[in-house]
Amino acid sequence: MFTPIPIGVVRSPYRDTKEVPKGLGAKHETEGVLEIASEFEPGLADIEGFSHLFVLWVFDRAGGVELIATPPSDDRPHGVFATRSPMRPNPIGLTVVELLRRDGRRLHVRGVDMLDGTPILDIKPYLSSVPQESLRRGWLAEAETRRL
Ligand SMILES: C[S@@+](CC[C@H](N)C(=O)[O-])C[C@H]1O[C@@H](n2cnc3c(N)ncnc32)[C@H](O)[C@@H]1O
Repeated sequence: MFTPIPIGVVRSPYRDTKEVPKGLGAKHETEGVLEIASEFEPGLADIEGFSHLFVLWVFDRAGGVELIATPPSDDRPHGVFATRSPMRPNPIGLTVVELLRRDGRRLHVRGVDMLDGTPILDIKPYLSSVPQESLRRGWLAEAETRRL
């Protein structure tokens, strides 16, 4: 194993988890900034060419672990690994953001669902080769159908 070190922090308008849109149909179009520490800035070379990025980050304000979670998008419980719950054995978040522009070591992005000051562990270009018709959305698709 290794000891993770943050490469930067998220600058977001959200100060409290209650402010982040949740549940079925929640839209994540909020703009924020991924502020990368100056020592890691060389690692941003050529990132401008990518429209979307995966951001790996730490749920630094989540407490505890719940292996069975009841997400805001359903009234039924599901295993934590079938959800995006913050209360997981390794509190790591994954968010896809749209890269709007780069300003030195600051990446201006759309689609943040993280609190202000959230530590960033890694950034990777978003590339998906899975065709839309091959994707199955599990309990989420069922929950959406029940809600209709
Ligand atoms: C359901 S999680 C999904 C996060 C990410 N998109 C994922 O899939 O891993 C999103 C929630 O995490 C919570 N959250 C955001 N930043 C956090 C932080 N730094 N510590 C703890 N909870 C956080 C907010 O309540 C937000 O609604």
